Amino acid sequence: MKRFHNKVAIVTGAGGGIGSPIARRLASEGALVVVTDVNEEAAGVVVQGIEAEGGNATVIAADISNKDSCIALVEKAFGLNGLIDVLVNNAGINRRGNLLSLSDEDWDISFTVNLDSMSHLCRAALPHMIAGGGGAIVNTASQWGLYPAPNHIAYNTTKAAVAAFTQNLARLRTGQDSRERRLPRRNSYADARSRCQALGAHDRRPRQNGSVRSHRKA
Ligand SMILES: NC(=O)c1ccc[n+]([C@@H]2O[C@H](COP(=O)([O-])OP(=O)(O)OC[C@H]3O[C@@H](n4cnc5c(N)ncnc54)[C@H](O)[C@@H]3O)[C@@H](O)[C@H]2O)c1
Repeated sequence: MKRFHNKVAIVTGAGGGIGSPIARRLASEGALVVVTDVNEEAAGVVVQGIEAEGGNATVIAADISNKDSCIALVEKAFGLNGLIDVLVNNAGINRRGNLLSLSDEDWDISFTVNLDSMSHLCRAALPHMIAGGGGAIVNTASQWGLYPAPNHIAYNTTKAAVAAFTQNLARLRTGQDSRERRLPRRNSYADARSRCQALGAHDRRPRQNGSVRSHRKA
């Protein structure tokens, strides 16, 4: 049986360069993939590709810069067959500028899309995952959150925050095992493959004293 047989996986930004191979890989591993993107046309192309390869996927278009859209996305995905097993928070934007040149709007939308959406989607999905006995959440950060590139202050700052958010999330006590994996830095597409490989929802290690553990190596 395939690793993600009968699992429901939401991939945000799945119409984009990294999200689409994540979605395809999950589908090839047996998941029903919710291909979600603000660009419905791009998401549709990804679903067509997955179906052509014999996989299962559906488009749910959503603008994740809006909290209500995030909640509606998760509820629509849950409505497919009453499960949310995997949430890949992959969508992200990069508005260029330094502290003096970046507009307030670009600063705000960077945080809304890159960070706030993760909080909204995790809050909406976690109760379903907990009720269903577990799940996996993957948040895409960037090495630029650790080693900031010049002229990308909003992007760098949001990605550092994504890392902190994810570390906190991994320590959330839910009654389920929880783990954090920080994936190795390679090129983006290799990272995308690594992320897919790290998505083993049932690749859980034994719980130690009922506490949350952190794994720094992928
Ligand atoms: N490309 C890289 O080199 C690289 C490196 C490190 C991290 N990342 C991160 O990987 C993730 C994916 O990057 P990518 O290169 O595939 O980018 P991309 O631009 O190809 O794809 C991003 C997708 O997100 C979607 N999106 C943007 N705003 C949205 C919104 N408000 N609601 C819903 N969807 C929205 C876009 O339509 C697009 O399809 C991002 O979080 C990015 O920061 C990328």
